[in-house]
Amino acid sequence: MINVAILGYGTVGSGVYEILDTNAQNIARKVGKAVSVRHVLDLRDFDTHPRKEIFTKNYDDILNDASVSIVVETIGGVEPAYTFTKKALLAGKSVVTSNKELVAKCGTELLAIAKEKNVNYLFEARVGGGIPIIRPLHKCLAANNVTEIFGILNGTTNYILTQMIHNNKSFEEALSEAQEKGYAERNPAADVEGHDACRKISILASLAFGEAQDSEKVYTEGITKITLDDVKLAGRLGYVIKLIGYTRHQNGKTLCRVSPMLIKKGTPLAMVEDVFNAIMVRGDSVGDVMFYGRGAGKLPTASAVLGDVLDIVSASENKNFIWSEGVIENCESHLEADGAMFIRADGVSIDEVRALFGEGCIFADSDEQVAFIAPAQKEAHMIEKINKLGDNVKSYIRVMQG
Ligand code: HSE
Repeated sequence: MINVAILGYGTVGSGVYEILDTNAQNIARKVGKAVSVRHVLDLRDFDTHPRKEIFTKNYDDILNDASVSIVVETIGGVEPAYTFTKKALLAGKSVVTSNKELVAKCGTELLAIAKEKNVNYLFEARVGGGIPIIRPLHKCLAANNVTEIFGILNGTTNYILTQMIHNNKSFEEALSEAQEKGYAERNPAADVEGHDACRKISILASLAFGEAQDSEKVYTEGITKITLDDVKLAGRLGYVIKLIGYTRHQNGKTLCRVSPMLIKKGTPLAMVEDVFNAIMVRGDSVGDVMFYGRGAGKLPTASAVLGDVLDIVSASENKNFIWSEGVIENCESHLEADGAMFIRADGVSIDEVRALFGEGCIFADSDEQVAFIAPAQKEAHMIEKINKLGDNVKSYIRVMQG
């Protein structure tokens, strides 16, 4: 029998409990041992819960219970999750988490403690919700030199953009629907300003390229400035707008960025809709591999958390993923990268646009505004030219190449 403690009985924590309860027999058959929830830590009362006796408000009940070998942390945020995690690891308990913020801020330290104590600190659920990506990246694709990872890493914003693209819904209306469905973070700014996707791509970059990417230094743009005009005009050019987390490693430098991008209709990422996430991994041997699934929601996220728990139960070796401290000189600025840009402007003629951005511009059919894709060039040069158009520019959005 393996005893587990759950910290936080919110959306994900209660999902973990529910799956362990519902699928108990199936799980025991697969991993060869029964896995049971021994304690749940939460400040609220759960007097009507069928197993109300397992709820506690005192973390020491868990820490001092030697029969608990795995702690599932689904509290979210840095504190008290950081203190609880550190204490559990130091006490020789493995910790599994869905906490993006904590792994992004303190992952390097917590992984080092786990390694020293020969226990696990695992976080499959913190990147793609229900999609298994961390273990496949680290194990199944280990023979590859991964050169690029990019994709749709946030369910809430993908849901909002899908509603804007297909149902002409306003940003606010679509956001409140996503919140009702339990996809959004406690503070939806984390979703719509791109911070959630940023934490996820930072972790993927750290894992794939072996050096910590500080999520606070990663260039991040959300979707709050995307309008229905952008969606419509991008559509006329044959593109959809998606929030993309992007990272690549070349010539010893890592570029990491989150921003809305135009994605060519009919390509795999363009077809990822609603709350679904998709992560494309480009390896030198395997080529492109795409991971697709539900990136948010109670049971999909709990399913990924339990994937880690059961991995610990079914094998004895330590499975920690390790990366070294980040070095700022090894980060490539987004301004150095080449790329095409979608630009929407008022009061500018097609001739002026061509004179500035070159003959290769592709224009959308539009009466009132000029909307076009400027051909690929270094982003610093592109932005200099955009600035020359001043307030006439209403928006500019990067375009995914190829
Ligand atoms: N708020 C996140 C999302 C949940 O919408 O994708 C999963 O990290």
